[in-house]
Amino acid sequence: MKVDTVQRVAVLGAGSMGHGIAEVAAIGGYDVTMRDIEEEFVQDGYDDIKWSLEKLEEKGRIDESAATVLERIDTTTDLADAVADADLVIEAVPEQLEIKEDTFSTVDEHAPEDAILASNTSSLSISDIAAATDRPKQVVGMHFFNPPVKMDLVEVTYGEATTDETAELAYEWAESVDKRPIYVRKDVHGFVVNTVLVPFMEEAAWMLSNDETTVQEADAAMVYERGYPMGPFELNDFGGIDIAYHFRDESGQPVPPAIEEKVETDDLGRKSGSGFYDYADDGDGTDY
Ligand code: 3HC
Repeated sequence: MKVDTVQRVAVLGAGSMGHGIAEVAAIGGYDVTMRDIEEEFVQDGYDDIKWSLEKLEEKGRIDESAATVLERIDTTTDLADAVADADLVIEAVPEQLEIKEDTFSTVDEHAPEDAILASNTSSLSISDIAAATDRPKQVVGMHFFNPPVKMDLVEVTYGEATTDETAELAYEWAESVDKRPIYVRKDVHGFVVNTVLVPFMEEAAWMLSNDETTVQEADAAMVYERGYPMGPFELNDFGGIDIAYHFRDESGQPVPPAIEEKVETDDLGRKSGSGFYDYADDGDGTDY
C-alpha cells in the first residue's frame, strides 16, 4: 500500500493520546473512525477534540473550520466496525500487553488484508504485539507525544518482522499530517525518547528522595538553564507518574521512592488532580 491510497484511519482508544491522534489525522484531511470501549469514553474524547479544534481555529492554526474537521470523525464502540474499512489502524489502548494483544488479534480478523496496523505504545515490544496477528510484516510502532496536536515528533519503530514498505508508509503518513517522524530501527524498550527522557525524570526523583533538591528547584533548574518547556517533575505530572513507574518497574530495576510513593497514594499527576504539584484549582499548579 502507498501513502496516497490511505483514506480512512481507525484510531483505537479515545484517551489523551487516542483522541489527539484522531484529531491530527482529521486535520490532515483523513476520514477517521475513533473507537473506545464505552460510549462515555468516546464522548469525552470527542469533546476534547472539539475543544482543541475550536482553540486552533480561534488562533488561525487550522485552514478549515473546527466544524469541517470534526465532520471527518466518526465514533463507535464496536471494534470490528471501526476497522472494517480502515487503510491504517493506529492503536492507543492502555499500556498492557494483554489488552494490546487482544486488540490486535481482533483487528487482524476484521481489517482489510492490506491495512497497516500501528501501535502507539511507548514501551511495549512491537514484535510481541505483532505476534498476536497473522500479518506481523504489516505491524509497526507509531509513537506520538502528548499532546499529539502540538508535538511534532513521531517514532516509527520496526518490530522484528516489519518490512521497509510498512515502516515507510507509517513514516510518510506521519509527514502527511505535518509531523516530523524518525525511524527507530530496533525494537528497544522505550525507543529513543523514553530511553533518554525517563532517566531525566528519575534522576530528579532520586535527588528528591535523598533530600538533595525540591520539586520546584529541580524544575526551575532545567527550565531556566536548559530552556526545556517543562522540568522533570512537571513533565512527569503531565505524562502520568504511573507511566514512568511502569516503564522502570517492567524492566525489573529500582524505582525512585519519590515516584513509588505517588503511585501508592494514587497522586498520578494532572489526570488525577495532584502529583508532584496540585492541580485542584486552575489546572496548572506549578509554581517554580
Ligand atoms: N489543543 C489546542 N490548544 C491547546 C492544547 C491542545 N491540545 N493544549 C494546550 N493548548 C492551548 C492552551 O490552552 C493555551 O491556550 P491559551 O493561550 O488560549 O490559554 C495555549 O495552547 C498555550 O498553552 P500553554 O501556554 O500551556 O503551553 P505552550 O504552548 O507553551 O506548550 C506544551 C504546551 C506543548 C504542552 C509544552 O509545555 C511542552 O512542549 N511540554 C512538554 C511536553 C512533552 O514533552 N510531551 C512529551 C511527553 S513524553 C510522551 O508523551 C511519551 C509518552 O509515551 C509517555
